[in-house]
Amino acid sequence: MGEVYDVAVIGAGPGGYTAALRAAQLGLRVVCIDAWTRNGLPSPGGTCLNVGCIPSKALLESSAFYQRLRREGSDHGIQLQDSALSFDTGVMQSRKERIVGQLTRGVQALFKKQQVTFIHGRAAFQARDDGGFTLQVLDPSGALSTVKSRQVLLATGSEPRALAAAPWVESRIVDSAGALALSQVPARLGIIGAGVIGVELGSVWSRLGSRVTLLEAQPTWLPNADREVAETAWRELSRQTDLTLELGISLHRAQPTADGVRLQYVHEGQDKQLDVGVLVVAVGRVPCTAGLELERVGLACDERGGIPVDENCRTAVAGIWAIGDVVRGPMLAHKAEEEGVAVAERMAGQQPLVDFGHIPWVIYTEPEIAWVGLGEEAARQAGYALRIGRFPFAANARARARGAARGLVKVIACASTDRILGVHIVGPEASELIAEAVAALAFKASSEDMARIPHAHPSLAEAFREACLGVDGRTLNV
Ligand code: FAD
Ligand code: NAI
Repeated sequence: MGEVYDVAVIGAGPGGYTAALRAAQLGLRVVCIDAWTRNGLPSPGGTCLNVGCIPSKALLESSAFYQRLRREGSDHGIQLQDSALSFDTGVMQSRKERIVGQLTRGVQALFKKQQVTFIHGRAAFQARDDGGFTLQVLDPSGALSTVKSRQVLLATGSEPRALAAAPWVESRIVDSAGALALSQVPARLGIIGAGVIGVELGSVWSRLGSRVTLLEAQPTWLPNADREVAETAWRELSRQTDLTLELGISLHRAQPTADGVRLQYVHEGQDKQLDVGVLVVAVGRVPCTAGLELERVGLACDERGGIPVDENCRTAVAGIWAIGDVVRGPMLAHKAEEEGVAVAERMAGQQPLVDFGHIPWVIYTEPEIAWVGLGEEAARQAGYALRIGRFPFAANARARARGAARGLVKVIACASTDRILGVHIVGPEASELIAEAVAALAFKASSEDMARIPHAHPSLAEAFREACLGVDGRTLNV
């Protein structure tokens, strides 16, 4: 037998590749095995880099740029007649592909730099013995090899959940990866599921001219978000983007037609029919464990198909750990990264903790939506008496100068201690602004602490400070 690694990481998504790099930094001998193939080549980076966070943000950027020029150019004195402004979907797609290529090659360069051995192939458990674990790896050419390691970290991620009523049909009934790869703008786009993927990808195609209908099973939109913020967000989102949302629907079936897809569903007790060019099914994701041969090492999945772990990502088998989308908790890239770093550090004898209460959520729509910590309803249910500060971007000078004076910052604080319990933002650059709120929660700051910190003027971040002042009823600019 050849080299015995200290840790074999299965999966090079944001969880796995980050864990591999951190473990190598800490002096462990690391191998990372990943099956993703793009254009016939290895493409580490997982869902996030290949068909998730990064390509979606590339298309969101292109479509927002187009929409802004079209709608707001003349406000700035930029003379663009509608007829003179056009876009090329092919160029947008190749720009997206270029960015993905640069980043996935970047992961391979980082592996080299940190001396992580990278193997392109699909891994499965073969055996377990006193020395650790033997994995079998099937490479894309069909060749098998074995890898021996003292510990294994499972970071195999997730895949789109399929719907029996809307089975996949190439280029007609597609998942999020298909929706990111459309070569033409469909005149009508249907989306089942108005979750994060539904609204982000619906925004992309709607900004480029598609009439988008989101069909959502739940009676409320973003049921887990702060109600006021979800309602403000939807009001602003539907004002700025041509999205139609039908809540509380029940899908009967989706069937391909000569030139698209026919949907039959029930909405408010009525049978309805909708014809669309393309249908996207975005009803959540399921953990990826198929083919890992977990039973060979005594591991079993939970009822969701995920790998059960404790709060430190240890599985029921000593020496096997699991992180990211394949375990409980939010399916977010930065959550997977946090867990990856924490597991690598635990393997090296450190005692890090991951606090889910400090994991931010961001939805990259226009305006952006971001939050961290408790929403108002959840905080009240948890028994807190609250003081709440709000500040509208309409009163923020930088937002006015940008022509983006919509939405608000809402800061929720404990009435007795003033500790900030949650921050919710709908507005420009909410994805960036939330970082200060995460730091505030992580350092257990009070609203008074944050209100006393100087914020550059003019900046969007002043809206956070003003909302903190608002907790004490002393906003200055409204
Ligand atoms: P993954 O990224 O899924 O990586 C798992 C890797 O393991 C894959 O490369 C897979 O090929 C490999 N693998 C699986 N089984 C095996 C095996 N047996 N052998 C070898 N390799 C294997 N999250 C955010 O935080 N922000 C966003 O903006 C965001 N946008 C998203 C947009 C879309 C359209 C989608 C679909 C997701 C988005 N997400 C976003 C979610 C994010 O992509 C995931 O939470 C994240 O990628 C999970 O990371 P992971 O490392 O757990 O798994
Ligand atoms: P999601 O859980 O956000 O939304 C799925 C939606 O589909 C829910 O609102 C659900 O009620 C609805 N639904 C389920 N079954 C249905 C049915 N039969 N008919 C109609 N509606 C139905 O999941 P989504 O959007 O698929 O995204 C998966 C995950 O990817 C997210 O939970 C998130 O963790 C991650 N993601 C994160 C992003 C970000 O951070 N910006 C962007 C995109 C994805």
